[in-house]
Amino acid sequence: MKFSPYELLDRRREGDSWSLEELEAFLEAWMAAEIGDEQMAAFLMATAIHGMKPEEAMGLTQSMIASGESWNLRDEFDFLADKHSTGGVGDKVSIILAPWLASCGVKVAMLSGRGLGHTGGTLDKLESIPGFRAGLDRAEIIACVEAAGCAIATSTAAIAPADRRMYALRDVTGTVRSIPLITASIMSKKLAMGASALLLDVKFGRGAFMRDLEESRQLARSLIRAAEGSGTAVEAIVSDMSVPLGRAIGNALEIVECVETLRGGGPDDLYELTREQAARLMVMSGEWSIEPARARLDDAIRSGAALDSMRKWIEAQEGDARFIDDPGRLERAARVEEVRAGESGWVSGIDPLELGLIGVEIGAGRKRQSDPVDHAAGIVIHRRYGDEVERGDVLAELHLPQNVDVNAVSRRLAAAWTISEERPPERNLIRAIES
Ligand code: URA
Repeated sequence: MKFSPYELLDRRREGDSWSLEELEAFLEAWMAAEIGDEQMAAFLMATAIHGMKPEEAMGLTQSMIASGESWNLRDEFDFLADKHSTGGVGDKVSIILAPWLASCGVKVAMLSGRGLGHTGGTLDKLESIPGFRAGLDRAEIIACVEAAGCAIATSTAAIAPADRRMYALRDVTGTVRSIPLITASIMSKKLAMGASALLLDVKFGRGAFMRDLEESRQLARSLIRAAEGSGTAVEAIVSDMSVPLGRAIGNALEIVECVETLRGGGPDDLYELTREQAARLMVMSGEWSIEPARARLDDAIRSGAALDSMRKWIEAQEGDARFIDDPGRLERAARVEEVRAGESGWVSGIDPLELGLIGVEIGAGRKRQSDPVDHAAGIVIHRRYGDEVERGDVLAELHLPQNVDVNAVSRRLAAAWTISEERPPERNLIRAIES
């Protein structure tokens, strides 16, 4: 299609929509370097300001899928589940969910990314396991799912390459927080892999991209709509990210918490959220209804089957699974410092954004995409939302490398807790289901 980028952008500036052919032609021309990043950046900014019609977001998603390979992994299995979280602090659900579902006979494959900003990345967490190999191609993912019931691999350059380039541009142009752009970014990668069913965990609150419930419900609906007609069934859980999930933040520390959860001793919020997502995927397989699915999942924890399944999966991806019984085999921080409460009362808030940013500061996350991460660094929360606390109690442990100013980081961490005189209201973790 012949088009004038100037005319298209001029219309977009006025808030006009584009036809699907125009969207496709614009993206293709950019990928072929026929138009420059400055023109794509203008498109991104106009879209972030004016939004997009749902059909346009679907069209953009399709064009981004077409920039790479479509794996259609569902064609290889009777049923294949996938799961995605829009990102939070302490969110290690995928690593628990995959082997747990596999132990209940539901096959899972996921392509995951590295940490973005203050939120951790599943891949960074998994790579804290010695030997774990995340760079699997299509055939290796299939072999791993056949051998262990699940696989989590890195999103390769072959999948939606337009997203990789576009995300880098969004990151530096202030256009990340846009519902249609997030929709096309997430769904292009997910639909290019092509599971039978995808469960989305759309988070809202201070630790998430979306700050309020209504905005996150809109995002959930937009994500579901973008998958219409794709062959992947999609549902979304909208969950609260106003405090961190679980106790551990930081790569190896989170892996230890995944093992504890699969052993039946993990934090209750992490268990609840993971179980609910897993149960919904079991229902989407058409073989289960919700209550029997939940009961089956509980049984798999009690019997040890879920933990065995993790062992099998880690070995299938060439990881050394001995850390499951001996967590000391994972990297450990040079120093562990306790941070204590300056007053007594009830924990009525723990700022997840601040904990995520402290995580980045101490090396658990990255400031630039090319930075390495320190697998051992992180935070373990001792006093959680709703707990009673006495002055001097340990609020959290900091796991640190040598080169960090402990006093400054400790003060910053302690200030992330809100301690009040009154017991705070119960937390309602799962706020909505969209399908
Ligand atoms: N995660 C993604 O993959 N893309 C976005 O745009 C936001 C979150």
